[in-house]
Formats: sequence, C-alpha cells, structure tokens
Amino acid sequence: MTPPPQDPDAPQPPQPPKPPAIPGGAPVVTQAPVVLPEGVEAPSLPSSSPRRIAIFGDIHANLEALETVLADAEEQGCDDFICMGDIVGYNADPAACLERVRAMGCPVVKGNHDEDAAGTHSLETMNPVAAAALEWTRRMLSEDQRTWLRRLRMVRQVEDFTVVHSTLDQPSNWNYVTNRFDAMSNFSYQFTQVCFHGHTHVPRVYIKKDKVTETPAESVAIEEGSKYFINVGSVGQPRDGDWRACYAIYDMPNELVVFRRLEYDIETTQRKILDAELPRMLADRLADGR
Ligand SMILES: [Fe+2]
Repeated sequence: MTPPPQDPDAPQPPQPPKPPAIPGGAPVVTQAPVVLPEGVEAPSLPSSSPRRIAIFGDIHANLEALETVLADAEEQGCDDFICMGDIVGYNADPAACLERVRAMGCPVVKGNHDEDAAGTHSLETMNPVAAAALEWTRRMLSEDQRTWLRRLRMVRQVEDFTVVHSTLDQPSNWNYVTNRFDAMSNFSYQFTQVCFHGHTHVPRVYIKKDKVTETPAESVAIEEGSKYFINVGSVGQPRDGDWRACYAIYDMPNELVVFRRLEYDIETTQRKILDAELPRMLADRLADGR
C-alpha cells in the first residue's frame, strides 16, 4: 500500500465539457449521458426494478452538486441511497449538506473530512488549503452536527455488499487506492462480492478474478466468480479532470453498476466559496475537475 498523498494525481481522462467561468452567466444544470465505450449502448434500467441503489459520496459541502445528484437518482428510479462519506470539507455548505443527508436516513460511512470536522485535534499536518477549509467547517457546524459525524461507522454491510470510505484493510488509516496494486490489499479483507468506496475522488473499477485488473468507470456487469472494488467518484469535487458531479447506481436485479456524470450549477458553488472567504483555489479547482 502506498502512503496516502494529500491530493493524489489522477490519470488523464477524455476532455469533459468546460464549465462556465466564475462568476457571472447563467447556471448550467443539464444531465450528462452515461460514459460508455464506443459502440456500447447505454443499458436500459427498467423503472420497476425493486432495488436500484444510488451510491454517492465525497460531497464536500457542495450543495448544488448534491441536489443535482439526488434529483437525477430519483429520475433514474433509485429506491435506496447510500452515502460514502466526506459530506463536509472544502466547499461552503457543510451544514446544509449534512442535514440533507441526515434527513434521508440512509446508510452513511465516515470519511476522513467528516472525522476531522468532528474532532478538535490539530490540522497542521494537513495541506494548508484543506486545513483552512476544515477549520472554517468546524465553526459552521453545531455540536449536534459534529456529534452526528463523529458517530458515523467506518464500514457497513448493506444487502450483500460492503461500503467503506477508503479501504477495508485499514479503514481508519485513510489509505488511497490509486492503482490495482493498492487494491490487492483491500481484496484480502473483502468478504462480499462487491464493495463500494470513494476517497480518491476518481471513479474506477477494480476486478479480482485470477488477478486484479483495473478498468475506467464505465458500466460494469457483476459476474459470478469475480470480486469488485468500485470507487464511485465524487459528487462535490471530482479529480479525474471531469468537473461534473459523479455517482453510481447499483442495479441489483440486473447485476449492473452504472456511473452517472452530471453538470450542476458550479457558478453558485464557486460564488459561495468566494463569499465565505475560503481559499480561491477551492473554487478554481472545481472547474478543472482536480
Ligand atoms: Fe474526499
């Protein structure tokens, strides 16, 4: 396992549509198609499916991205939701995002920013931008909200799959899985066929059969005899070069995981960051998807 970087480099994906410059101009709220390999048709997910689960995380206090994802999930007929943690940190709506997720009553696992926002420990070993945002976040949350974050569980089993923010081998160490070699350690502790995670903000699928392989975040069929460790990407601060909000839908009856990318009102999110006097680079990086 490689040591956890503060801000891991991500592989260069195809160029996504550019977001509007900040600030000014009309907000962009459109729905992006599922990213599929050339020649592959988008899977048809019947709306009557009894178990279609929206799995979303790394919201990072981006309310516009969160609302866009939740609206899309409802449109897609999702009947359940699971939050992969890092509800707060970086962006300007920590309390609103926390209350939105809390009100859903869905399973939630703890992320490292949730833990840091709930604590009182020093943040001086963290990179200065993340630390500044977390100090600000601590002031924006009530004691009740911080207690709720503190009590979140690190790992949960839902149905017959597992969810964790970082990795199953050492979930409280917040290790980053950035390649298939990192994923091998996780698979040693993965006792369900499917495990979802986040943390790197880069959607990706690791598959263990005879060996561990890595594939881009596209539609993936869950097949007998293989294990899957699936990073659902980030709602509120993607880092794969694509600025659009990302989440995944687990269509259980059809044994299919589909990734969704959605344009959202990034201008409003950026304006809130600037109005809150958070570091400007937090607004800039949203547009870069880094
Ligand atoms: Fe995160």
